[in-house]
Amino acid sequence: MTTRPEARVEVRSPGRVNLIGDHTDYTGGLVLPMAIDRYTTLIGTSGGNRVRLRSDAEPDPVDLPLHLDDPSTVTPHWGRYVAGVVAEVAPSSGLEGAVHTTIPVGAGLSSSAALETAVALALGVGGDARTVAELCRRAEIRASGVPCGIMDQLSIAAGVDGHALLIDCQSLEIAVVPVPDDLDVVVWFVTHRTLVGSAYADRVAECAAAEREIGPLRLASIGDTASIGDELVRARARHVVTENERVRAFAAALAADDRRELGRLMLEGHRSLATRFATSTPTMDDAVAHLASQPGVHGARMTGGGFGGCVVALAEPGSIAPADDRWIVRPVGGAARIS
Ligand code: GLA
Repeated sequence: MTTRPEARVEVRSPGRVNLIGDHTDYTGGLVLPMAIDRYTTLIGTSGGNRVRLRSDAEPDPVDLPLHLDDPSTVTPHWGRYVAGVVAEVAPSSGLEGAVHTTIPVGAGLSSSAALETAVALALGVGGDARTVAELCRRAEIRASGVPCGIMDQLSIAAGVDGHALLIDCQSLEIAVVPVPDDLDVVVWFVTHRTLVGSAYADRVAECAAAEREIGPLRLASIGDTASIGDELVRARARHVVTENERVRAFAAALAADDRRELGRLMLEGHRSLATRFATSTPTMDDAVAHLASQPGVHGARMTGGGFGGCVVALAEPGSIAPADDRWIVRPVGGAARIS
């Protein structure tokens, strides 16, 4: 990894939506996200010995030294994600600039990972998408204390125009799958997320407990989960094992443009998140049922960490009209330094 100080800096970093494969990444499983045409842009100047950023989405600016140990105590709160990256990079020169975003914050479309990636690239972090994503994942964990997986940062760093990314979160290998131009990817921001901190960490711990009994979930079959003693841990494991299978089937159905099957898998995946993994809420369940009942909609599911956030649906073009809280998104290329 290298840092390359330059005068003017401009970086554009997309958000992401996950089509299927939730709560699989931190067990090295499969996910199928895409970077979306909602962006965090950072424009500034490199140099100096502080990182100073303001954001049009936040009242207070961030002002940080180049060396810091504990990003999780930084104020204002949004500065923790910037601080996490600064702590990981330990840059030799600073940055001053402004952040603008069209990614709704707290919606589960990875606004924090987009910000981390933008800051990393602006600070001159080089290397391939995996290197950038791994650094930003460490930054997120240091900033938030949430033991997240690699999906958000890697889909943002590695996005490919017109394609979803089939990511193996163990090997970090990525296979691209075209998303048909005449298929609408609808994202509906239903509620702000709640409870994510402790509940997410509980799920990670429950999956680790399952793995202590039956080994890596990414290699397990549904039959293997039968021997797990604790009922709740068994249910969590069953979600992960079946979700990995759904991701494989979904990638094949997307490549074959089998829209009926895509919809079926989305609804089955949502049920698994709601019942076995308990990361949905009644409001999210209602939103999925409502979208899925609309003419032209193939299927819908909650997307991302859960406990609120967004629902994603696949629909025939024009079936769902865009609104303030509902967008048709396109798969786009990953985060990039424009200058
Ligand atoms: C959050 C995390 C990801 C992933 C999803 C659930 O977005 O940051 O690593 O675990 O939840 O799939």
